[in-house]
Amino acid sequence: MWPLLPALCLLLQFNTYSFQNVSFEVHFEWVYINFTWRSPEEYQEAIRTERYVPQNNQVSGVKAYKNNIYYTLLRSAPGTPVTVGYVPVNSTRNGPLVHPYPSWDMNVGESCTTLQNVEALEIDSTGVMWILDGMRMNDYTHCPPKIVLVDINDNGKVLHSYIVPDELCMAFGGWMNDLVIDEIDGGYAYITDNSYVDPGLSVYSRKLDRGWKLRDRTMYAELFVQGFVVNGIRVERLYNIDGISMSPLTSDCDEERTVYYSSWTGVDIYAISTTILRNESTCLGTDWRRHVRHVGRRQSPSDGMVIDNTGYMYYGDLTRDAISRWNINSNFTTNAAIVYQNSSTVNWADSFGFDQSGYLYANCDDSEYFETQPRPLPVRHNITFRLLRARTGTNSYLYPLRSL
Ligand SMILES: *[C@@H]1O[C@H](CO)[C@@H](O)[C@H](O)[C@H]1NC(C)=O
Ligand SMILES: *[C@@H]1O[C@H](CO)[C@@H](O)[C@H](O)[C@H]1NC(C)=O
Ligand SMILES: *[C@@H]1O[C@H](CO)[C@@H](O)[C@H](O)[C@H]1NC(C)=O
Ligand SMILES: *[C@@H]1O[C@H](CO)[C@@H](O)[C@H](O)[C@H]1NC(C)=O
Ligand SMILES: *[C@@H]1O[C@H](CO)[C@@H](O)[C@H](O)[C@H]1NC(C)=O
Ligand SMILES: *[C@@H]1O[C@H](CO)[C@@H](O)[C@H](O)[C@H]1NC(C)=O
Ligand SMILES: *[C@@H]1O[C@H](CO)[C@@H](O)[C@H](O)[C@H]1NC(C)=O
Repeated sequence: MWPLLPALCLLLQFNTYSFQNVSFEVHFEWVYINFTWRSPEEYQEAIRTERYVPQNNQVSGVKAYKNNIYYTLLRSAPGTPVTVGYVPVNSTRNGPLVHPYPSWDMNVGESCTTLQNVEALEIDSTGVMWILDGMRMNDYTHCPPKIVLVDINDNGKVLHSYIVPDELCMAFGGWMNDLVIDEIDGGYAYITDNSYVDPGLSVYSRKLDRGWKLRDRTMYAELFVQGFVVNGIRVERLYNIDGISMSPLTSDCDEERTVYYSSWTGVDIYAISTTILRNESTCLGTDWRRHVRHVGRRQSPSDGMVIDNTGYMYYGDLTRDAISRWNINSNFTTNAAIVYQNSSTVNWADSFGFDQSGYLYANCDDSEYFETQPRPLPVRHNITFRLLRARTGTNSYLYPLRSL
């Protein structure tokens, strides 16, 4: 068998770089997010006490697993009762209710063991959800940030909770923003920390139950991008390293994969090898910086990005109301291009997720509005959130290449 592997790997390198457009359709849409309350009394009480303020709830991260679409809801304004939830994929398109996940208790509990403020999650190939409870740039919680592992195939049982020390993510001022998972050697998460004070790329080893952090000038906001305009709104925020994606599993040919990252207020994409990221002593030195590679410059800033198992990176093309794509085995400058553009539906494509049967989901969440409007937010009457879906026939970077 072994002599065949190099040939197979070679084949994987030569995907077609075809530029056919990808057709996204609206799968869900919401004016505001509402939940599966336990009783009418609980709902009335939440409205009365403003524990639930409908227009303040924003779905941000999205991932798909089996029959559910999982969401994170960032607590950036008061009245967001749930920070992780799901919607069954076959729900009605118009305003489906969000189920808290793994439970109401894990979302509303007072104790620091419950979920506090979550921006991103990822689901590995065994169905373990890695939850980054690490938005610590506002006053919603004073609990230390943590990474919570939950088994979707065991009723959402909490398997482990790693309390993230201040050196990795500050309890006052840190913001674990996005992650990818590398299932080698017990499992690693590579995490972007968008903090104003201490931005960086953190590595967490599940086996060692320990992490380390890389800091570099490529992980800061790019000043020349400040003031970009989305949907007529000028965005002045300077946010650091945010979007992250990883090259796909290649039929066990190579343990070394590539992690891509870029800043929220930024257009340049950088890459670093996972062999470097996983080596704690290398990361604690300075030499690793020589291995950071500049990949290309996008035509627009982007938020989330994801790579499929054939090597296509999909990312939000924010100022052009579009979703763009680049084949990572090709030259970025010449091959990155818009695959879907629609100013009536693509309004800040924030986060991306593949299901296991060949569909790509994109959560469009109007972030430019939430980032710029003063609180309290007014009640809105227009569609604010859309989940778009396209058939790509591929899976995420976590799965080996196979036809779907
Ligand atoms: C929110 O959902 C509950 C059901 O869980 C329903 O009773 C209530 O009317 C909904 N509220 C709004 C404002 O849609
Ligand atoms: C959605 O799918 C689930 C599981 O396959 C099924 O039990 C349920 O009836 C479906 N609901 C709708 C509205 O089709
Ligand atoms: C980490 O990198 C150093 C320097 O390149 C190397 O000597 C060491 O063997 C590596 N450690 C592991 C666990 O691979
Ligand atoms: C990528 O394309 C740009 C623009 O055509 C060109 O200048 C550059 O040399 C190319 N790089 C590679 C590695 O082919
Ligand atoms: C793909 O979509 C973009 C934006 O809608 C459009 O400019 C381009 O011509 C399309 N390309 C193809 C090959 O259809
Ligand atoms: C853009 O979205 C609108 C609303 O869903 C739809 O009617 C229209 O056909 C879409 N345009 C394209 C080019 O997909
Ligand atoms: C809300 O929707 C209406 C009808 O589609 C449209 O005329 C109006 O411009 C929209 N308002 C905003 C703020 O998008």
